[in-house]
Order: sequence, then C-alpha cells, then structure tokens
Amino acid sequence: MKTKKIKLAYFSPTGTSERVARGVADGIEAAELETIDITRPETREKPVRCAADELLLVAVPVYMGRVPALLHGWLNALEARETPAVCIVVYGNRAYEDSLLELKDTLANRGCIPVAGGAYIGEHSFSDEQAPVAMGRPNEEDLRHAHAFGKAIREKLDSVASPADLADLQVPGEHPYGGRTQLWDVDFIAVDDRCAQCGLCAKVCPVGAVDPANSAAIDIAKCITCCACIKKCPQNARSKKASPVMEASQRLFNLFTEPKKPEYFL
Ligand SMILES: Cc1cc2nc3c(=O)[nH]c(=O)nc-3n(C[C@H](O)[C@H](O)[C@H](O)COP(=O)(O)O)c2cc1C
Repeated sequence: MKTKKIKLAYFSPTGTSERVARGVADGIEAAELETIDITRPETREKPVRCAADELLLVAVPVYMGRVPALLHGWLNALEARETPAVCIVVYGNRAYEDSLLELKDTLANRGCIPVAGGAYIGEHSFSDEQAPVAMGRPNEEDLRHAHAFGKAIREKLDSVASPADLADLQVPGEHPYGGRTQLWDVDFIAVDDRCAQCGLCAKVCPVGAVDPANSAAIDIAKCITCCACIKKCPQNARSKKASPVMEASQRLFNLFTEPKKPEYFL
C-alpha cells in the first residue's frame, strides 16, 4: 500500500520524542502529515479516529520503564480499523524495558496493525550541566537513523497490498510488563529571583501543575517530574533542589555513561 497520509501523535514535554518522531515521518515521505501534540492537555481530551489508508505514528518517552500512565485515557479512546501503526519509544539512555511492547499491544487493542517499532535515545529529562545524561540526543546520527527507519517503513508498506498481509510485528519485551506506572509525588523544583513571572512554565507544563499567576506554586500531586518547566525557562530561573529527583539524576549520571544505540524493528 502507498502511504498517503501520516497521523503523527507525540507526547514530548522536553522535545526529544517529537524530534525523533518527525525524523521518522520525514523518512516515510508521505504526501500529507497531520501532527497531534498530545503533550497539550486539551489535545488529550479529543479522541482520534484513524482510517485504514492512513499511517499512525505514536511517539512517547519512557517513564519508569513504561508508557506514561497519563496517556492511557487518550490511547484507549483511539479508534482505528486496520490502520497500520508505528510505535516509537524514546528513553534517557537507561532502559526502555517493556515499554515498546506495551505501546504495540495498546495500539493493536485499539484496532491498529503495528507494522514497525523503534526505541531511540533522548537527553534524559533529569539531565543538566551538573549531571549530564545523554546530553544533546537525539543527535545528528540518531536523526539519520530515524530517517532511515522511516524509509524502511515506507518500503515495507509498499511491498504489500494491505498491512493485514504482513507477519505479526515482533518487538522486545515481556508480559507482565515490568517498570512502574506510579510516578513520584515530590517537591523538587527551586525557583530563584531571575524568574520574571513570564508564565511560560505554566504553558509548557503538560499536566497544568504550575500556577500561571505564580510560577513558584507547583501542584505536587499533578506534577509528573517531566522537567519541561525547568528546561524551557527563558531566564534559567528553575532548577532541581535536593530531592529524590536530584539523587536519581546523579545516579543516572554515574551509571549510564555508555551511549546506547537506537534500534528499530520491522
Ligand atoms: C518520570 C520519568 C521517568 C523516566 N524513566 C526513564 C526510564 O525508565 N528509562 C530511561 O532510560 N529514561 C527514563 N526517563 C527519561 C526520558 O524517557 C527521556 O529523557 C526522554 O527522552 C524524554 O522525552 P521528551 O523529551 O519527549 O519529554 C524518564 C523521565 C521521567 C521524567
């Protein structure tokens, strides 16, 4: 089948999953590309319906070895009928555990036919100058890999009349899934006097945890520790204070120094 239209859905608080996903989509070279940014809470309210002649690409970061639990609602509202689907997980150089299998199973349960899966490396959400982890990734080489993956997906789809003719996609992972879906409830963000109350932190927060009128007021129960507000602050006024998040970032910096390589499965 010829891929005419791609629906590209990504959850990407710090932008790495989006960059990988766009690299893969570029390589597929479909005539039409619709992006669905499910990082935005209002977008996650709208269910998506996919047709059989579209290609759905879903890219998510790995949180605690799993697909982020806050996406379950949107994923389980997805409607598809034999829509070919590409599953992409982006992880911070530790491990992606069973998350790619989890994403594949979820999309298959919604009526998609998973045709390809990829696991890419993105700068760790907790990474900073003091404890860099996978800093700058995806890098140029990762994006070339993503582009080549896209091309291979196109060739795979072109080789059959219908995705239903393809053999079942095999990706690494086991049932029951490992990892954890419960994230920390933790007060870990320090805001210093460079803060100009510009409100960008509240805008980029994917879960509405930052008060737009007072950027130092963070709802710990809502916060998913994605670090978007820290990394995107134009004044560099936000940082991590002593907390389990800071300890984790130090641990990751000490343990996961060897750069992992992206992988794809067709
Ligand atoms: C709460 C949380 C849990 C994470 N768990 C993992 C993990 O289990 N393995 C890993 O390698 N990276 C993990 N990461 C790092 C992210 O997967 C990685 O930085 C990803 O590139 C972020 O994607 P984004 O830029 O699209 O937000 C975690 C990040 C957060 C915020």
